[in-house]
Amino acid sequence: MKIAITTSAPSTVETPLLVVLVTDRGDKPPAPELLSSDPALQSLAAPLIAAADLTGKFAETVWHLAPSPAAAQRILFLGAGKYAKLTTDEFRKLAGAAARAAKARNIKSFVLVLPQLLPAAPAAQAAVEGIVTGDFDVDTYRSDRKDQALTEATLSVSESADAKAIYQAIAEGAILAESQNLTRELALEPSNLMTPTILADRARAMCEEEGLACEVYGPDKLRELKMGAFLSVSQGSEEEPRLVVMRYEPATAPASPVLGLVGKGITFDSGGISIKPSDGMEKMKYDMCGAATMIGAMRAIAQLKPNLRVIAILCASENMPDGKAQKPGDVQFAMNGKSIEVINTDAEGRLVLADGLCYARQLGATHLIDAATLTGAVVVALGYHNAGIFSNNDAFAARFAAAVARTGEKMWRLPVEQDYFEHIRSEIADIKNTGGRWGGAVTAAMFLKEFVDDKPWIHLDIAGTAWLEESKAWMPKGPSGIAVRSIVDFARAFAANSE
Ligand code: BES
Ligand code: MN
Ligand code: ZN
Repeated sequence: MKIAITTSAPSTVETPLLVVLVTDRGDKPPAPELLSSDPALQSLAAPLIAAADLTGKFAETVWHLAPSPAAAQRILFLGAGKYAKLTTDEFRKLAGAAARAAKARNIKSFVLVLPQLLPAAPAAQAAVEGIVTGDFDVDTYRSDRKDQALTEATLSVSESADAKAIYQAIAEGAILAESQNLTRELALEPSNLMTPTILADRARAMCEEEGLACEVYGPDKLRELKMGAFLSVSQGSEEEPRLVVMRYEPATAPASPVLGLVGKGITFDSGGISIKPSDGMEKMKYDMCGAATMIGAMRAIAQLKPNLRVIAILCASENMPDGKAQKPGDVQFAMNGKSIEVINTDAEGRLVLADGLCYARQLGATHLIDAATLTGAVVVALGYHNAGIFSNNDAFAARFAAAVARTGEKMWRLPVEQDYFEHIRSEIADIKNTGGRWGGAVTAAMFLKEFVDDKPWIHLDIAGTAWLEESKAWMPKGPSGIAVRSIVDFARAFAANSE
């Protein structure tokens, strides 16, 4: 999609569709107000407002067709909600809603008026993020799939705006959103078309395109590295596991710190011998979202070029029941020698990540971030609205939280405390892989903590947020691409100021 800007009066721009926001400045009753001072648009909106057809309610859509005093073929008055609540984050959603409204009518190109009340460059970046992520479709394998992709979006900005800053913001927004869409594209694929081998191939292809170094390893290398925890998950599958290492190592970056990213890449999680109920099992194709997140993040990092070394590790495997599958009660040895009693073969994510985290440290990572669709328990704790953040280091967590706040993603920190460790003590081994019913997201994090060796570490449990359960006006139901923007933003800030 091409992104352009215009400084002409919105009503004079020729376009199939002009989108203008309408906010609500009132309490009760609503006091709708057009977020453009263009007199022609004002005169069009006035009777709609007077008739209460246009209220400014968030994501409300009121259409006006030509003829009109404006050069656009159609005008969409898009409700922007309460004036005081209209932030850049809300505007990102509105831009996505505009894109999806256009697509629904097979309109391929539109103009969006940036509201003057928001700082222009961040608003432009948010608009591009919203539009590009809003352009994502999930009907890949439908025979009646139409090509609904947008071809062009134009941002209407004021004449006084700093064009250079806006172009820069547009370029960054596009990189972030396209990377987030890559993550979503990978997550959407069904497990027969996204095996560990294919996931590794896709990672390698991205690296080749972006000039990143990439190594892909199979079971022999896992054995050589003594990754007993990772191997135990793959042993029940006909599909070979893949360990992927992607490296972004700019020549000018200092030797330290090295940010290590680790992603859970279970391309299908049947639960293994502790098999899951069949109802909803199809969703376990997205159990590779942590790995897909890191592929998207590395793409954006390669393009945005922070002065920081970043190594990403993907642990790709299926989790299947089979004659060779591991069984409850089995004891496995992780790469760092820790023994693990496998109580439940469905708690497989922490097993592959255990070795992934050890390997990231072995490759020199001084700071760690992992992302995983790790537990149903995080969905119980936080619902579908927030991803869980876990950390062993308050200062590191605060820096990550600042990145999350800047990108508008929704995440909430949960505790990592020694009290919870008692639940994963084993009688026969060092630890067991489940900690019982209560605090399941935390005991999973406590398990991972055994493999980070006190390196500053953040664990993101995205089980509830990696897949949107209901369509929103700005995003279709399906993979969300959560955490890509925050990880990239964090890496950039960390590069600029890594103490
Ligand atoms: N992949 C699942 C977690 C999950 C649940 C992801 C829902 C996305 C949506 C994970 O491997 C799993 O099965 N976790 C178990 C752990 C339990 C056996 C301790 C769970 O959450 O039930
Ligand atoms: Mn599982
Ligand atoms: Zn899983």
